[in-house]
Parts: sequence; C-alpha cells; structure tokens
Amino acid sequence: MKIAGFKIEEWMNRYCPRAEYDLTTTCIAPLSVNDLPYSKEIFNVKLGYGDIEGSLRLKTAIKSLYETREIENITVTHGAIGANQLVFLSLLERGDEVVSIVPTYQQHYSIPESLGSRVKFYFLKEENKWLPDLAELDRVITSKTKLLCLNNPNNPTGSVIPDWMLEEIVKIARKKNVWILSDEVYRGLNLIGKPYSKSITDLYERGISVGSMSKTYSLPGLRVGWVVGREDLIKEINHQRQYNTISVSILDDYFASIALENRDFIARRNVEIMRSGVNVLKSWLEANPEFRCILPSGGTTVLLKYNYDIPSREYCRKLQNSTGVALLPGETMEMEGYARLGFCADNLGEALDRISKFKP
Ligand SMILES: Cc1ncc(COP(=O)(O)O)c(C=O)c1O
Repeated sequence: MKIAGFKIEEWMNRYCPRAEYDLTTTCIAPLSVNDLPYSKEIFNVKLGYGDIEGSLRLKTAIKSLYETREIENITVTHGAIGANQLVFLSLLERGDEVVSIVPTYQQHYSIPESLGSRVKFYFLKEENKWLPDLAELDRVITSKTKLLCLNNPNNPTGSVIPDWMLEEIVKIARKKNVWILSDEVYRGLNLIGKPYSKSITDLYERGISVGSMSKTYSLPGLRVGWVVGREDLIKEINHQRQYNTISVSILDDYFASIALENRDFIARRNVEIMRSGVNVLKSWLEANPEFRCILPSGGTTVLLKYNYDIPSREYCRKLQNSTGVALLPGETMEMEGYARLGFCADNLGEALDRISKFKP
C-alpha cells in the first residue's frame, strides 16, 4: 500500500529534537508512573500478552466515558493512531467516497486515499471560528458519501463543535446513511462549558469515536487508544486487529486503567495548565498585533496567523534557526500562511517573546 508522507511527523522528527522551545507539542506535560496511584502488585504480573482485546478493567474504565455504549462496543488499540487506522481498514473499500473536515490529523485523508477512496476536503474557515457551516457541509456530503471524518476538539485550530451542532451534523449524516468517524483524542479538554463534549457514538448509531491516553490524560507513552462504535463494526475491527495489534502491552493496559479510574486529578491539573497557557497567549496577542489567532475553546493547539509574506515552512525553519523556537508550518496541515502553536508547552511566555522579536 502506497501512502503519502505524514507531513507533521516528518517535520517534527527533523526539527523538534534540536528545539530549545518546542511549541509543536500537542501533549500536556506527560505524567510519570509515580504520579499514578498504582499498586506494587504490578511488578509481579507475568508479562504475557494479557487480555487480547483489552482487559475488562480497562474497557470498563473506557465505558465510563460514554453514556450509551456497552463493553461489546469497545476495542482497545495502539493509541488513537492505531484506532483510526483500524476504522479505515474495516470500513473502506476502493472507490468509496469520504469527506474529511480539514485541517485535521493527516491520517483522516491520507489513509482513505491510500485505500483507493475518493476523498473530498471540507475546509474550516477562520471567519467561522474554525467551525463547519452546516449548509455547506450538507452540500459536500452526498448520498454517495460513505464516511465523514472529523476531529473534535480540533487539532490544530482549538475549536470545539458545540453539542447542538454535533446533533445537526448527525441529522445530515443520518439522512444520507453516512458513517461518522470522530477523532476525540482531545475530548475532556474543553475550556468553555462542560469539559467533555458529547461523544459522536452516543449521538448516532453509525457514530464511531476514537479516544486515547495521549492528550486528555497526559500519558502518550502508554500507547493505549480505543474505538467505540456499533457492535458489528467493532467485530470487524477486531478481525482486522488480529493482523496488526495482537494486544496492547499488559503494563500499558494496567496503567491506563488506573489513570482513567483516577482521571479527575489529571483533568484538574491539565485544565490549570491550559488556562494559564491561554492567558499568556492572550496577553501576547494583545501586545503583538502582527500575529492573530482564534483563541481555543479546547484542545491544546491554535493556528497562528503571522503577518509576513513568506511560506510557512520557510518561516518556521528560519524562526527555529535564529531563536530556537519550534512551530509547526501550516503547510504540513494544508494551511499555508499559518503555524500551529501548542499553548500548553513549557516556558510559553519566553518562547512567544522570542517569536515576536524575530523578523524573517
Ligand atoms: C487528532 C489526533 N489524532 C490522533 C493522534 C494520535 O494519538 P495517539 O498518540 O493516541 O496515537 C494525534 C496525535 O497528535 C492527534 O492529534
């Protein structure tokens, strides 16, 4: 299977290790094992494959994040990246039409393209606060569309689709019999209203939700994600999954269970880091009118518009070379003229100060 290069991964692998201030990050200060209330019993557990499709303890903890789904509606994967891939492999065939709401995580268009699907892009607009226009979306999705992909809260824009709008999107999908894959790795990180938005899988029988330990729970090193959806789809995913997963590590399964069972303290800590990042960003934007962005409603990133006539790859490369600050070029997310900024990064204020002093 031929597939396009994963542009953000290629950029980050090349530039982040050398950065003094890494603002490309999407994670909130990862936790250590010692931050979790684990039991020393775990050191006696034999490191076999464990429960192949995820332990009942882990699935029960995942189930508690949803309102309507049962254990049979859940499968455990290698991160959200494994979850997304398994959904595409299970659902799509050559020639299927897929609508992908962009900007988004590149998996949501490059994997369907690599499987021979016809991908239609629906671009979010800054003037709509990076939220979809429902009438336009209704036109883009047709009776030929098999799958709509969205990412809510959105990486990179930090927009969060309000629950009422999710329900309207479901109405559009339902009348055209379209599946919806909602990548919800940032679900639980809303800055406005309740921390958790509604999950698409609780709103729609063909709604497929992907989640993971990486962002909301600050444990990207555990490599645990999941898919929640209709039971027949989960069966199909488990069939595909036998070829690329076997099981997730028994240690990852255990620590993920503990973290989800104790998620309130992680949420409190993370919301504090997010709020302080947004405050720093807001004051900086007020003092530096040559930059603008829509402030985030959730997630961990924003799309920064810089007021220089220079392509984003060149801007980010020069910025990093002269200041040590790494930003992610918008071009790697099909958003030329912008750069992605992770507002939960360490030493954000100092990094922003360097950005404003730099003139390309
Ligand atoms: C929207 C989105 N989906 C999926 C992933 C992959 O997450 P994981 O680390 O859980 O595999 C990322 C990582 O940045 C992401 O931003």
